[in-house]
Order: sequence, then C-alpha cells, then structure tokens
Amino acid sequence: MSKKENLNTSKSTDTGSSGPLKLDLARLLSPTSVAEFLSKKWPDEFQVSHGKMDRLQELTAIPELLDLDRLTLAYRKPITLWYPPSKDPRLSKRIHDRKVSSETALGFYEAGATLYFTDVEVFVPETRCILRQLERDLGLPPGCARLELFASRDRSGTPLHFDHELNFNVQLAGRKKWTVAKNTRVPYPLTHYKPIEGSPRGEARRYIPDGLPSETSESTETFETEPGSVVFIPQGYWHSTVAQGDSIAIAVVIVPPAWLDLVLLAIRKRLIPQAGWRQRAVSSFGAKPRLAELAAMLERLPKTVSEITGAEVLSMLLREDDARFELQAARGKGRLERKTDETGTSACVGCNKSLSD
Ligand SMILES: [Fe+2]
Repeated sequence: MSKKENLNTSKSTDTGSSGPLKLDLARLLSPTSVAEFLSKKWPDEFQVSHGKMDRLQELTAIPELLDLDRLTLAYRKPITLWYPPSKDPRLSKRIHDRKVSSETALGFYEAGATLYFTDVEVFVPETRCILRQLERDLGLPPGCARLELFASRDRSGTPLHFDHELNFNVQLAGRKKWTVAKNTRVPYPLTHYKPIEGSPRGEARRYIPDGLPSETSESTETFETEPGSVVFIPQGYWHSTVAQGDSIAIAVVIVPPAWLDLVLLAIRKRLIPQAGWRQRAVSSFGAKPRLAELAAMLERLPKTVSEITGAEVLSMLLREDDARFELQAARGKGRLERKTDETGTSACVGCNKSLSD
C-alpha cells in the first residue's frame, strides 16, 4: 500500500444524512450488539467482529489515520520501528524496537519497517471526541482511553505477548493474521509482557511465575482481519499478529485504574487528615520512638480499611471529581484531557475547539 493511499469514505451511505455519523460503541462493534458484548464479553472475553467499513466513516474522515505523510507531519514524538528478523536478520538487529523522529520515520517505512505510533490523540485532536464517546458507552470516566496506530509492512507483526490494558483493535486498511489465547496462568497483569524478551522485570516479577513458557500452552484461535474488522483483546489475553500485505490498524487502548489503585487512594484519603501519617519517613537512631508510633498507627489501620465500602470505591471511578485528578497525580499520569473555561465549565478538548487553544 502506498503511504499516500487514503481510504476516506466521506459521507454516510446508510442514513441519507449529509453529516458524519457519530462513532459510538454500537457502530464500532457492529454487527455485534452492544447488549450482547457488554453482557457476554466485556471485560474478560475475547471477541472479533467483521463489520462494514462505512460505519467507521468518522475515523476514515480523519486524514492522519490513513495517510502517513499527514500523520508524521502532525506527530511530534519519537516513533517505534518494528522489523522482524525473518525479513532480514541483520537489519532487524539494527533497527527493531528503535525509536526515530517523525521526520525520518517514513524513510524507514519505505525500507520495510513497521511504524508504531502511541498517544495519537495528543497530535490528532479530532480523535479525542471518539475516545470520549467510547468511554461514556463503556461507563468509564474520561481519560481512560488512548489511541495507537500500527502502519505495518507485509509479513511484519508482533510476536506472542500480553498487555495490561483492554484493547479494541480496528483494521482500517489491509489484512492481518491473528493468533489469540486466553491467559489462565497470569490473570489481570498490570504490565505488558513478551516472553521472547526474557524474564519479567520490575513489579511484574511478583505475579508472573518463573518459567513461563515462550509459547503459550493455552489453546489458540487463529483468524484474519480485513478493513472494518474489530478485535477486542481483554486484559492479559495472549495475542500475536502478522500483516498479510501492508496494513493500517488503530488500537483504542483502555486503561482504567485497577481496584488496587482505587482502594489505595480511598485509604490515603482517610489517612491524610491524621498528622502521624503525614510525617516524612526517616530512618535514624533518634527515630526509634517514631517506630513505636508507626506500629500503633498500623494497628488501627485494619479498622480504617474495613470502613471503606465498595460503593465508595466505585464512586471514585465514576465521578469526575477531585478524586479522579488525585488518582492521576498519584499514578504520575496526567492523562485527563479536559480544560476548564472562565465559567468553570469543563469540556473535552477535542469536542470544543474554543477551549483547545
Ligand atoms: Fe498487544
């Protein structure tokens, strides 16, 4: 596929309306119904649906999503290259997983490298309203969804791995072969893991067992996607892909907080009024009496935790209030993309151009 190829399908053909149709969860998942998806699949079960491309016109009307010249012009952060050893082992060793500037990325694409773009919504504002709509349809607060794009070259793809997020992968152009399998050994991981990269690192070592095989022993399912196909990959589901010819796909990546994050925040909100818990942790001979004080505070902690209700924790997820911002700050990921105007009204940056300057 030429990098300049544009599959813009422009106006609706199924409503007679001249304006673009809103891309919501129903259109994304069509022909699967939202009710069926939410009751039988979301959030733990894999699904693939093969709908018609014209329902995705709100996506295909955004030039950057199908035209790599336009996307690399708008995109202002390093782009990851993928180049499988099967195509050229020496070149693969030199450039696979390397990050390059958006100015040079197209040269690598022409040379056969796949381009992997993350945080596309930051550079293509028109995509933000779509993310916000999907979050609303899934009952999630704004800021949980991000957009990635894969401009894959023929026979390239990703080896077997699992991710920590939930993922709607939308095939926009070309075809891809997928292999997927349920992950029964590492349920609900909080990190991405690719066995061929070696042992798990960091926090993942606490829940990914030693000796996890490089090939999944779970029973696999293989299928092919074409333009209009949507694959839902649950948290931790094994998957690998190989492009069948050049391909463009986007991934709506959903990363809600884990219950763990919300409960820790609920505990923090209850402890922070108490001066003892706000003391800076120090270690010295003189700190001995403080150790006794800390032990006394810890003794009272179970009672504090037991007073936290499930409804309180859930409300922290659903309410767009200070708790959400505190959570983002605590996790060091200021992802909420909304601004507040002079009247105090907040809006999605992508929905309201007047607030986006
Ligand atoms: Fe993945």
